[in-house]
Amino acid sequence: MNIILFGPPGAGKGTQAAAICQRASVPHVATGDIFRRNLREGTPLGQLARGYMDRGELVPDSVVCDLVTDRLGQPDAQGGVLLDGFPRTVVQAALLSKWLDENGRKIDVVVNLRVPDDVLVKRLSGRRTCLACGATYHVDYNPPSTPGVCDVCGKADVVQRDDDREETVLARLSTYHRDTAAVLPWLQERVGVVDVDATRSIDDVGAAVLAALA
Ligand code: AP5
Ligand code: MG
Repeated sequence: MNIILFGPPGAGKGTQAAAICQRASVPHVATGDIFRRNLREGTPLGQLARGYMDRGELVPDSVVCDLVTDRLGQPDAQGGVLLDGFPRTVVQAALLSKWLDENGRKIDVVVNLRVPDDVLVKRLSGRRTCLACGATYHVDYNPPSTPGVCDVCGKADVVQRDDDREETVLARLSTYHRDTAAVLPWLQERVGVVDVDATRSIDDVGAAVLAALA
């Protein structure tokens, strides 16, 4: 099953991903996580992505699409994937759709997490992320059991993401409205989109997302 988990920055895509992947038995393919891993490892891809991420802009379509299609071709992705943070432009959506078509596959479900901007700003500015494993927390809504220590991997690496500073958060939201929101009607027309009110509690949103998959 190929699932697209869509939504603006801070909507809760990363938070909901593990439960969806477990339910659908598919790997989690999050383009932002891939860029951050490359950044930590100092690879050329990480160097290239850094400037765009720091400014809250999108990495060029050609770079992202090569990365994703390469990932989709790997053995563990043959039964499907959960795409988180991709596609983010109509060009990316069209290239994904073409690649899947050429490979006898398709997008099965699109789930859109809906959250208004004022809530997104609160979520992103309070978010803390584990640098070691990528797990996400929130200082008020979902803190780790021990401050600064990750509940998932146990490392003391839970910090604020560079792009969660206020000015970058606002730039990311404006990039979303300018470039990414247009992907929704494109997907709606071709695949259909299940809308989920993601302003509710993490557990309630999780239940609604799993219901959408069933
Ligand atoms: P990426 O890493 O994809 O960031 P994003 O889309 O901006 O999304 P986030 O990870 O910020 O939000 P999320 O929806 O995962 O929210 P989360 O679950 O953490 O991309 C980063 C950058 O990489 C981009 O800016 C771009 O430069 C580049 N990039 C990536 N993909 C690209 C692409 N396809 N094309 C071009 N460039 C690309 O939750 C947020 C917070 O809210 C957390 O603190 C969480 O605990 C809390 N929370 C979650 N759910 C709830 C709830 N229901 N109630 C209360 N709090 C909640
Ligand atoms: Mg995320």
